[in-house]
Amino acid sequence: MKNIVILISGRGSNMQAIVEAAVPGARVAAVIANRPDAAGLAWAAERGIATAALDHKAYASRGAFDAALAGAIDAHAPDLVVLAGFMRILGEGFTRRYEGRMMNIHPSLLPAFPGLHTHERALEMGCKLAGCTVHFVTAELDHGPIVAQGAVSVLDDDTPDSLAARVLTLEHQLYPEAVRRFVAGEIAVVGGKVAGGPGVVASLLSPAPSSKA
Ligand code: GRF
Repeated sequence: MKNIVILISGRGSNMQAIVEAAVPGARVAAVIANRPDAAGLAWAAERGIATAALDHKAYASRGAFDAALAGAIDAHAPDLVVLAGFMRILGEGFTRRYEGRMMNIHPSLLPAFPGLHTHERALEMGCKLAGCTVHFVTAELDHGPIVAQGAVSVLDDDTPDSLAARVLTLEHQLYPEAVRRFVAGEIAVVGGKVAGGPGVVASLLSPAPSSKA
């Protein structure tokens, strides 16, 4: 049985999707937040999952927080660490410690729009496609080998909120599937890229492409 530790900062809807997917051969051993008020903690605790809150504001430095977080994670002997809306930048030593076994989901089609406000930026640029990316975490923010991508159409009347909601629906499909493939040993990183076919892809394209003869 593989142990998954999920890190959250807020509502934790991706965490919920992964828990509810009940990935064969894996258990969510713990959900850890950097904010004691993260709503997802209560949801996980109600389901009997171990939870912990490490308030990053209580630590004197980023290094001290990273060390405490690593201790809390390692107490659960993780095979995979899943960042699910975890809103803290992690130091290089931390990312190296979990290299190849820590994933993140980002709400854009990386390498476009790393960082914050992805949906606003996609709309400002007039993008016709938006989406989300699951990637292994490296020291560089929102970079690292891409495991899975999902695309949605951008609609004329989209707002950042409506686009975010459509992308989130796809996130909830994509992330559990990426975790399932990792647990099944189907994901290998070769030369800095995830090898083996097209990877995990999904789309919610609307209107559906016409099937002209
Ligand atoms: C998601 O859109 C995720 O892509 C981003 O933060 C949001 C987290 O949402 N990194 P939730 O906490 O999983 O509901």
